[in-house]
Amino acid sequence: MILVTGANGRPGSAVVREFARHGHPVRALVRDPAKVGDLANLPGVEVVHGDMLRPETLQPALAGVRRALMISGAGPQLLETQCTFVDAAHRAGVEHLVKFSGKDSIEGFDPERFRSTRSHEQILRYLVASGLPWTVLRPSQFMEVYFEEVPDLVGTGELRLPLGDTTLAPIAIEDIAKIAYAVLTTDGHEYTTYSMTGPESLTMADVADRLSDAVGRPIRYRSVTSAEKQQDWLKAGYPPPRAAAFAQLFEERSRLGHSTVDLGAHRQFGVEPTPFLEFARRNAAIFRGESTYSVTPV
Ligand SMILES: NC(=O)c1ccc[n+]([C@@H]2O[C@H](COP(=O)([O-])OP(=O)(O)OC[C@H]3O[C@@H](n4cnc5c(N)ncnc54)[C@H](OP(=O)(O)O)[C@@H]3O)[C@@H](O)[C@H]2O)c1
Repeated sequence: MILVTGANGRPGSAVVREFARHGHPVRALVRDPAKVGDLANLPGVEVVHGDMLRPETLQPALAGVRRALMISGAGPQLLETQCTFVDAAHRAGVEHLVKFSGKDSIEGFDPERFRSTRSHEQILRYLVASGLPWTVLRPSQFMEVYFEEVPDLVGTGELRLPLGDTTLAPIAIEDIAKIAYAVLTTDGHEYTTYSMTGPESLTMADVADRLSDAVGRPIRYRSVTSAEKQQDWLKAGYPPPRAAAFAQLFEERSRLGHSTVDLGAHRQFGVEPTPFLEFARRNAAIFRGESTYSVTPV
């Protein structure tokens, strides 16, 4: 059996859907049964409940699992959550653990300068030291993070980010899910890292142009300071530690400035890279504010 954790979240639910699309059985670990949505009705999907921070709850999830994809959110508990899960998986006899991590597309990005990338590096060292055969998936920024800008796009027609002329190479979660499915369902990926980005290195002005095309009205990019954006995030209700962590991330990105595209994993697994314009057009109703993004669409 293959287990996917974080199955109520953005990448986890997309991976589970990819299994269902292929008719391949998969077990989906969710922490909150109330949020399962349509996941439980997908063909071949077995939903189990458990908390990765409470190993005593994981027995039903881990029983008979040969390979697992470990995903949890980027919040302050990332390190503890995933190290606890590594131990539980090892004890339960999992033979191969695929870690969902990240890699910024910015050339020279220092993972130590952002809380969640720093935690991912620590978790990877812990996983390697555990002796469990591992694989790492390292996607760049998700295209879906631009949904968080919808209130500004709708309210002011502006994309406000503290990035100057910095380029990013965001990737559609759908692409990551296809690559993850291939890695989880074929052999020979142990001790391998798969980095991946979207197909274009884009300034935020490029992103705004593509959003304008998709929504059918002008969206302008306004480069703001990191402090201004931090205020925006706080006003939008981000908890202060999250707003501060994001400010760190954007400062590191704008300090360095240039992203490279890495489509090696797309090519290896035959996945067609999704361009930002296609992603934006497909999600035009969300970017217009006419519908909301949901990881559990009905
Ligand atoms: N955002 C990006 O652009 C980006 C890029 C590359 C990599 N990443 C990485 O991608 C990962 C996913 O990030 P995300 O923001 O997309 O996450 P997300 O949508 O919040 O998904 C994370 C999922 O993990 C679950 N989870 C957290 N703690 C758990 C626990 N103790 N037990 C069981 N389940 C637990 C959450 O459950 P609940 O639904 O119950 O909260 C949630 O469903 C992160 O590790 C992040 O660093 C993100």
